[in-house]
Amino acid sequence: MAEVKLIREGKTEFFVPSSLELKKEGPGKKGKFGFYNPAMAESRDISVAVVQAMLNESNRELRVLDGLSSVGARGLRIANEARGEFKVILNDWDERAIEIARKSIEHNNLRNVETRCENLNVLLCKEKFNYIDIDPFGSPVPYVSMAVRSILPGGILAFTATDTATLCGVYRKTCLRRYNAESLRTWAMHEIGLRILIGYIIKEGARFERALYPILSYSRNYYMRVYFRVKNGARRADKLLENISVTKALDFNFKPREVGPLWLGELHDRDFLLSVKRAAKEVELSNRKEVGKLLDRCLEETGMPPFFYDIDALSSYFRKSPPKISRMMRLLEKEGFRVSRTHFRDTSFKTDAPLDEVMKAFRDLTI
Ligand SMILES: C[S@@+](CC[C@H](N)C(=O)[O-])C[C@H]1O[C@@H](n2cnc3c(N)ncnc32)[C@H](O)[C@@H]1O
Repeated sequence: MAEVKLIREGKTEFFVPSSLELKKEGPGKKGKFGFYNPAMAESRDISVAVVQAMLNESNRELRVLDGLSSVGARGLRIANEARGEFKVILNDWDERAIEIARKSIEHNNLRNVETRCENLNVLLCKEKFNYIDIDPFGSPVPYVSMAVRSILPGGILAFTATDTATLCGVYRKTCLRRYNAESLRTWAMHEIGLRILIGYIIKEGARFERALYPILSYSRNYYMRVYFRVKNGARRADKLLENISVTKALDFNFKPREVGPLWLGELHDRDFLLSVKRAAKEVELSNRKEVGKLLDRCLEETGMPPFFYDIDALSSYFRKSPPKISRMMRLLEKEGFRVSRTHFRDTSFKTDAPLDEVMKAFRDLTI
């Protein structure tokens, strides 16, 4: 066994290779074997809360898969921190990573965890699960079509994407090739990218007559996360497809440009968000404040239109210093428009006000 060191995240201790460099920020380095990135702790916090929310609404044993587990950080935390009837399966094709994961299972005396050491797509062919978490290096595309078939009806599928530069318009050809969609580099590029990713995954589900409803979707500096509730049915899938199309988004010059095809429906399910918030109170989080803020911002976004305006983008365009975002939001509200903050950026807001009204409000506040 490789040399290991013990670390703690949330309420769980687990082993990682001693050779790993642990950075608090950024995407984390792909080492020779065994991967663990401390900067993803918040994303694992949310996975624990999501599984707890599922357990709170279920009355039978759930099968939870951490499909690309490496040394098992995510699955071990779920197994150790969530309460209820469930079994966690950790899988990685890297034997050395799974060997370390087994040592952590023993260390925590966990009886509800099993390991597999297979190509994830092979495992997804053989077994079915109620919750599948797929956290790859880069894009989840290689696993989507198998995952949508392996998830049990009513189950939850979660994906990470770290190919954000591709999804956000830096690598146009790669985005077209991988997601069959046009992105755009603009202030709302993270929402555009997230919606391209969601649209792609829903279409993959629809091919197999599975309806994938986005229930929680968010973007962080260098990764995106999407959770789907999965139901069976061609008609349900058809209905979802009606919300995927090409649309227009504003570029930095405030000119409309075509983007997509992408998902134009809701990014979250309000009731689900509320149950995740309740579940988050029951479990130990490594970053309670940030998780709380993220979930609250997501809640605010529900019912609001796609995309948003950004105070800094407006001030560069008009060459004026930015007014306080709260003043801008209040003014639009006074004019009768709906306005909310967004989790994508602290300097941005969503509104149903048309562009000319937003520009007028900005001018009124900066003359
Ligand atoms: C980003 S790491 C996973 C990190 C982990 N989920 C966490 O939270 O720390 C991706 C892992 O996927 C594994 N992997 C890549 N392709 C795979 C495949 N086709 N089947 C199984 N494992 C695979 C790699 O060995 C690597 O450990």
